[in-house]
Amino acid sequence: MEVVIVPDAKAGGELIAGAVAELLSRKPDALLGVATGSTPLPIYEALTAKVTAGAVDASRARVCQLDEYVGLPAGHPESYRSVVLREVVEPLGLGVDSFMGPDGSSDDVLGACEAYDRALGEAGGVDLQILGIGTDGHIGFNEPCSSLASRTRIKTLTDQTRVDNARFFDGDISQVPRHVITQGIGTILEARHLVLLATGEGKAEAVAQTVEGPVAAVVPASALQLHRHATVVVDEAAASGL
Ligand code: GLP
Repeated sequence: MEVVIVPDAKAGGELIAGAVAELLSRKPDALLGVATGSTPLPIYEALTAKVTAGAVDASRARVCQLDEYVGLPAGHPESYRSVVLREVVEPLGLGVDSFMGPDGSSDDVLGACEAYDRALGEAGGVDLQILGIGTDGHIGFNEPCSSLASRTRIKTLTDQTRVDNARFFDGDISQVPRHVITQGIGTILEARHLVLLATGEGKAEAVAQTVEGPVAAVVPASALQLHRHATVVVDEAAASGL
């Protein structure tokens, strides 16, 4: 695992956008796995700026989701489908056909999980997966004690994660879905390159456990230690526990 300490979130975004640009120059139709949340936004902004400036050709890029809420209609502004379309797919000038994600509004959620896991493999696998980290060490929506070998499946959110995410639902925790679909940790580990960005002091403890603690299901992000090409990019505040 490579750990890179950058001065601030913007520098982290630039660095990771540079890695995506390099990937696209080698493999124009690369499958880019994207995380939601506030942390990766500087990556998407930096990448969009490069594309707009003509420095990167992303026209053949493909984008896939990491996770999704269960029960929100697909068009809900806070469904992760909507968020990824709004923050990544549309700014990069891609069409909806370049994008794949699990169907959180399906009547058959278990079937939707299996179908998405299979679809990722059939698409050739994720080339570069961008990850954030929850304050409790989760990646995607793999909450603490998720199996390190888990596949895409339904999970129940912890109260902490629902509190953390209530800001996207007018601060009202009752509107945050309880159930989600997430790529499993085993699924995430199949990506060719994992890049986790963490910024701010609130992530310092989770980062320290991820990087320096034992590999343990209680800290899902610690599974990155098992990956042959994992990069953890942290600003100085998030690195303060290292
Ligand atoms: C959610 C997402 C994760 C994300 C996490 C942290 O739980 N499912 O993929 O990493 O939030 O979000 P933020 O970056 O806003 O702190």
